[in-house]
Amino acid sequence: MSEQKYAISEWHDTAEIYRKLDVLINQPPHTIKPEKMTEYLSYFETKCQGSKKLTDEAKQYIPGGVQHNLAFNYPFPMAIQKAEGAYMWDVDGNRYIDFLQAGGPTVLGSNYVPVREKVMEVIKESGPITGLFHEYELKLAQLVNRLMPNIEMLRMLGSGTESVMAAIRVARAHTGKRKVIKVGGAYHGWSDSMVFGLHIPGTGRFESAGIPFGATANTEEFYPNDLAALRRKLIFNRVRGGTAAVILEPVGPESGTRPIYKDFNQKVRDLCDEFGALLIFDEVVTGFRLGMGGAQGYFGVKPDLTVFGKCITSGYPMAGGLGGRRDVMLHLSAGIGGTGERAYVGGTLSANPLSCVAGYYALLEMERTNAPVIAGQAGDRLTKGLQAIIENHHLPFVAFNQGSICHLETAAVMLLDFKHPIRLAKQLKPRNHLMQEMGAAYMASGIITLAGSRMYTSMADTDEVIDDALDRFEGVLTSTI
Ligand SMILES: Cc1ncc(COP(=O)(O)O)c(C=O)c1O
Repeated sequence: MSEQKYAISEWHDTAEIYRKLDVLINQPPHTIKPEKMTEYLSYFETKCQGSKKLTDEAKQYIPGGVQHNLAFNYPFPMAIQKAEGAYMWDVDGNRYIDFLQAGGPTVLGSNYVPVREKVMEVIKESGPITGLFHEYELKLAQLVNRLMPNIEMLRMLGSGTESVMAAIRVARAHTGKRKVIKVGGAYHGWSDSMVFGLHIPGTGRFESAGIPFGATANTEEFYPNDLAALRRKLIFNRVRGGTAAVILEPVGPESGTRPIYKDFNQKVRDLCDEFGALLIFDEVVTGFRLGMGGAQGYFGVKPDLTVFGKCITSGYPMAGGLGGRRDVMLHLSAGIGGTGERAYVGGTLSANPLSCVAGYYALLEMERTNAPVIAGQAGDRLTKGLQAIIENHHLPFVAFNQGSICHLETAAVMLLDFKHPIRLAKQLKPRNHLMQEMGAAYMASGIITLAGSRMYTSMADTDEVIDDALDRFEGVLTSTI
């Protein structure tokens, strides 16, 4: 672990979490009592008509009426008007405690004023984009290098998805090898080759509508934490074009929904070295959220390449980046006049002044205020409170956290897997529905979560905010059968 301070005081007992998750997934889903669910749903009908009207109309112009994969559609999507600190307000003026935090990037809390002011200054001067170099590109790359010394060089890109695409391309260009191995269930964006084994391990091309077989032919997945399976794939790939890279989310797939054992990342590093593959850390969520040194600083493991996303700009748009070893990154030189050797990536709006100034000041502010650690303390308080509710009411649910990334498993959809295909086939739909109901019940109780099972805390989550949230959670969790 480097000198930086981290959001995690002590790595959780991973084996104990899996034991509890196993108990949860092996019993019938605990649903919300029908009369309580009717009550929760009536909240939407009586208090959220503005959202309903807008998103109903949007269905005529926008497929399904929503554009964010993290939006709940049940009973209908919410239209948000205002976000500030720990709260969001919908168009009907209802206030919610915001544990979505835009899907993770806003460790400082939503719409943080000192960063917004710096962004406004740059917009006034140069507008959001000129297409040419801006000093903030350099400042941000230098700052990231200071915070994460493994990032010897950085390319800013448009999103996490794009940055994963770039990482894979440059890994292949550098190694001359073909295969890319990911952890089953992990999310690395929606590029053709990565929509493979999404959310649920072993599901391969389950969600690959519109993606040709060739695009995923060189993608492989292994079951979370199964190092023996990874080794077997690396051995097998020696005669199948070689492994260019192993890519992983360093706390475990889906932001640690299936958490890793603490030495997992180092063991994958060792395997990559043994087989000549690059190690790619996808730090789209963990980069700066676990601490200013990211997951790589916390675990003390050096990836060859690091993917950044929304966190690197604290949520401001065009948020992506790829960083890492100088010799590998040099494949990404940009500009007119290629030699045919570089890995071609880029984008008109990438590395624009707006994203770079936002990233630069957000990271400085996070460092100055110790935001990742404060957010981590809020995550600890929330998780301990949830664990106490679960214990006191003898509920089967499971709460655990990796600092400010908190998990509350009730429906446990993502804990299904292909090792138990009959259970998967039987329970996917009902558990999916329960997840939606839980999300709706939390929302009707004034809390916005990610997919009804994950909460990102931020620096804005004071003890009062967390204690208020716990009261609300208790109401929902105890209304289950
Ligand atoms: C770990 C991880 N990788 C990649 C992505 C994709 O990033 P983006 O949505 O910016 O394309 C996400 C998005 O949630 C993510 O959580």
